[in-house]
Amino acid sequence: MTKINLIENKVLVPKEFNNVASKYDFATYLSQGYQEDLDNSAKWLGLEGDEKVLDLCCGTGKSSSACLPYIKTGTITGIDNSEGMLKVANEKFAEEIKAGKMSFELQDAMALDFPEESFDAIFMAYGLRNMPDYDKCLNQLYKLLKPGGKICIHDYSLANKSWAKYYWGILSYGFIVPFCTILSGSSKIYTYLAKSVLTFLTPKEVEEKMISAQFKSIQIKAHKSWRGPILHAFLAKK
Ligand SMILES: C[S@@+](CC[C@H](N)C(=O)[O-])C[C@H]1O[C@@H](n2cnc3c(N)ncnc32)[C@H](O)[C@@H]1O
Repeated sequence: MTKINLIENKVLVPKEFNNVASKYDFATYLSQGYQEDLDNSAKWLGLEGDEKVLDLCCGTGKSSSACLPYIKTGTITGIDNSEGMLKVANEKFAEEIKAGKMSFELQDAMALDFPEESFDAIFMAYGLRNMPDYDKCLNQLYKLLKPGGKICIHDYSLANKSWAKYYWGILSYGFIVPFCTILSGSSKIYTYLAKSVLTFLTPKEVEEKMISAQFKSIQIKAHKSWRGPILHAFLAKK
C-alpha cells in the first residue's frame, strides 16, 4: 500500500480527522490552556453580539464555543470538511442549533459555498496551515467578509528563529505525537501536525499574505500560555 503524504495532499487532512474525532476533545482538554488560548483569540476578535460569524475549520466546535459568549442576537456558522468532527459538534451544541444560534456544515474551506459579503466576522483556528493554497484561501475570506468585517486567524506559526523550531520539535515529537497516538490509536494526523507547523509560514509571512489579500489594520498577538512562542493570533479588518 502506498503511503500518503498529507503535507503534499492536504485535501485528505479532514478525512484523517475522522479517525481521531471521538478523542479530539479529550486530547485537547489534556493539552493545557488549549481552550483558554482559543477564548483569548475570540475575545481579541472584538465581537459585539449581533454578528454573523463564520468559524472556519471548526472541528468539534471548540473554536465556535470560544465565540459563543459574545454572540447575543447573531449567529455562528461552523464549517469543516470532516464528517466525524462535525458529528461531535452537532451533538455538543444541539441546544444552540435548535435555538438557531449555531449551525454546522460540511464544506471544503478552499471552495466555500456562500455569496460574497456574507459574514461580519471570521474565526479560523488551526485552519489556515491545513490549506493547500494560503493565498487563495485568504482572498476568498476577504470576499466573504462584509466591508468593515473582522477576521482572526489563530494558528501555530514559528518565528524564523532556530529556537522556536527546536522548541516545537521537542514538544511535538517528544510529547504530542507519542501521547496523542496512544490516546487516539492513530499517529498519522499528529505526525502531520508536527510537520505542517515546521513547514508553515512565519508570522511575518502570514502578515504579508494578509496584506496581499487586502486586509487592513493587521495586528499579530502572542498568547501567554506555553504556546506563546509558537502560537499567534492574526487580527485584521476588511
Ligand atoms: C486542528 S482542527 C481545529 C478545530 C477547531 N478549530 C479547534 O480549534 O479546535 C483542524 C480542522 O480543520 C479541518 N480542515 C482541514 N482542512 C479542511 C478543509 N480543506 N476544509 C474544511 N475543513 C478542513 C479538519 O477537518 C479539522 O477539523
